[in-house]
Amino acid sequence: MWNYKDFIGIKNLTKEDIKHILDLSFEMKQQMINDKAREIKQTRGNMTTLFFENSTRTKHSFYMAGQNIGLRVTDLAIGTSSVQKGESLMDTLQTIDSMGTDIIVMRHSESGSQEFAARNCKASIISAGDGTNEHPTQALLDAMTILDKKGSFEGLKVTIAGDILHSRVAKSNLYLLNKMGAKVTFTGPTTLVPKAITQMGAKVCYDLKESVKDADVVMGLRIQMERQNSGAFPDLREYNKTYGIDGAIFDYAKKDAILMHPAPVNWGVELDRSLFTAPYSVISEQVTNGVAVRMAVLYMIMEYRNNRK
Ligand code: CP
Repeated sequence: MWNYKDFIGIKNLTKEDIKHILDLSFEMKQQMINDKAREIKQTRGNMTTLFFENSTRTKHSFYMAGQNIGLRVTDLAIGTSSVQKGESLMDTLQTIDSMGTDIIVMRHSESGSQEFAARNCKASIISAGDGTNEHPTQALLDAMTILDKKGSFEGLKVTIAGDILHSRVAKSNLYLLNKMGAKVTFTGPTTLVPKAITQMGAKVCYDLKESVKDADVVMGLRIQMERQNSGAFPDLREYNKTYGIDGAIFDYAKKDAILMHPAPVNWGVELDRSLFTAPYSVISEQVTNGVAVRMAVLYMIMEYRNNRK
């Protein structure tokens, strides 16, 4: 049972909330596979996407997910909107809210912007990523993929390599995996993997091979050049030499380890190009599961709203 107006992060969810969303996500995926037209749970309402940062996977899968469950979906194209004339976030949100949309799916470069939106809108706010804070539906689709391949989270070793400092995916995954009983190890250059993150329940290891040893899941993260403004990341080639994931590194992981990446991938930087077709890569399945997870989240939010009418 879902009891919240908004969906803006993993941090404050319970283990039961997460299990509920994942159960519904698997159900949605099965319904999609069975019969696209007849089987899928349907609801009614309006959903607006508001992406202040670029996206392919998250935006399009939310769009498809909304349509799959019967929502009327519209997008405010930020690039041609009055945001370009200097209209504030508050005024933009209140304008869309006044049009009577039920759900606003929002991505923004400022951490905490969805919390601000949730406080100021009658519409339910769903986070599609806020700054360096959280990307909750990405963590859920990652969790769905892990659960599908491994059957359980309990005791799994998940190694996440890359730009942890700027990564909202890393933080949402850490919150979720810790709650579900998996152990997370972060690896990468000292400038991008702050030691202080151990206080949030992660292990930190600056040696890639050691961090991958006996891992069940190896996840690469995109080097976010657009957020590197402190001189902490001078050279992509150097990064690849020390922290790039290739086939050889999987000799250190468990035999049945899987490779994940939220994408878009900088091939030749975080991942060797040969891994594009690796049998242990589940990157395409992550994308597929993204549609099911977003159908589940949208459906739950509409159920919450419809029960309160
Ligand atoms: N993984 C992810 O958030 O991708 P997009 O930026 O393409 O949505």
